Amino acid sequence: MSKPIPKASGVKPETGHYDEYSVNQPKFLMRVRQECGDIGEYNLMGQPHVLMSGPDAQEAWCRAPDEVLGQSAAYKGVVPIFGKDVLFDTTLDRLKQQLKIQVDALRYQNMKEYAKVIADEVRDFTNKWGESGELDMVDEFLRLTLYTSTSCLLGVEFRRDMTDEFSQLYRDLEHAVIAIAFIDPYLPLPEFEARDKARVRLGEMVEEIVAKRRASGKEYGDALNTFMTATYTDGTQMSPHEITGLLIATMFAGHHTSSGTATWTLIEFLRNPQFMAEVKQELAEVFADGGEVSHHAMRAMPKLEAFIREVLRMHPPLSTLIRVVEQDFEYKDYLIPKGYRVVMSPGVAHKIAEVFPEPEKFDMHRPEPEHLFAWVAFGGGRHKCAGNAFAILQLKAIFATLLLDFDFELVDPKESYTDDHSGMTVKPLAPMKVRFQRKKQ
Ligand code: HEM
Repeated sequence: MSKPIPKASGVKPETGHYDEYSVNQPKFLMRVRQECGDIGEYNLMGQPHVLMSGPDAQEAWCRAPDEVLGQSAAYKGVVPIFGKDVLFDTTLDRLKQQLKIQVDALRYQNMKEYAKVIADEVRDFTNKWGESGELDMVDEFLRLTLYTSTSCLLGVEFRRDMTDEFSQLYRDLEHAVIAIAFIDPYLPLPEFEARDKARVRLGEMVEEIVAKRRASGKEYGDALNTFMTATYTDGTQMSPHEITGLLIATMFAGHHTSSGTATWTLIEFLRNPQFMAEVKQELAEVFADGGEVSHHAMRAMPKLEAFIREVLRMHPPLSTLIRVVEQDFEYKDYLIPKGYRVVMSPGVAHKIAEVFPEPEKFDMHRPEPEHLFAWVAFGGGRHKCAGNAFAILQLKAIFATLLLDFDFELVDPKESYTDDHSGMTVKPLAPMKVRFQRKKQ
């Protein structure tokens, strides 16, 4: 006989907890944990949700098979963006094969190539800044990471010829990721009309590059090459439509996550100058022999990496991850019924005081928690972030360049830099202004 799942207080008749949730998701979810413990039920517009928090519950969530906790139904808002027969609009078997191809594209063997491409993009980008000035880093990092991901995924030739049209089409896709899309993504709304046009046009662009590459017979070291040459288990290859979908999905997965983390990394450096000094010292030692950023970004930089991990603990860009219960799911003495949504929240996980003492304090020397599923910024288990090595490499290349070439200071009081909780995801609240000064050579 299973125990009843503890329920969060304050539920309203029709909307459930939606009003409180939509103001500040992480704060609401923390309240659910504080009231209910490792497993707690809440309700959003009539849909029951269960938050699983604490390392053991997080591990159970991560390790559950796709047949039990499915992703697809939770992601229906992005189906028209990625396209028909791509990821969440296909069978579970095809989904697994496409995810594997995505993992292959982000695998270590492509990293050397990516390191050079990213380092070149960062240098080009910062060269345009001039000697000194003030910048909104939210906007800067959003643009920089769009360039780096375009180069690494679609290739440097495409990136070199990239027009504003591409950025606009990508923005049209992003603007269609709104709450209503997860209820009905086919409503006659202007955002959805623009999305569908953009998806068609992006498909044409990718088809053109695929055709050119096939005609040239050349091999490339980028994700598009992996997608073009990959085969399904039945021996067939992906269609240009599927290739476009996977490219878009990979860009979506990596763009805001990387740019938000880059923004917070710079802000936390400036809020914690003693740690910044330590990381700069490490960089000075690593770069003492000269050498390229691309080469060094591939090397271990334990201090910079520890700093980035602490940034990801404090500000995990994906702060809630959702699955749909496809078959009744048992956890300890509880049974979560089919049809429920189950949530794992890095935002909550990283603020549990028993796991991370003084959780609001930024400390790059914090010992690693023993439990493998305590720090979950990249998720865990079968759907752990396929781009985590790429993301860390990119952050190292960005900050090696920035900290070696520039001095920065915050423009506004340090407590005023905060997150925006009003959208579908938690992100840095723009603008986040910093002043920069290029160092004398
Ligand atoms: C700091 C940056 C990043 C963070 C914090 C992050 C975080 C995450 C998380 C939490 C998941 C799991 C989602 C879930 O279980 O529902 C995930 C999945 C994924 N991420 Fe990342 N990500 C980052 C950067 C990237 C980049 C740069 C790429 C690609 C270029 C990428 C590609 C992916 C892909 C393809 C998946 C899906 C894996 C699967 O479902 O099997 N991510 N990411």
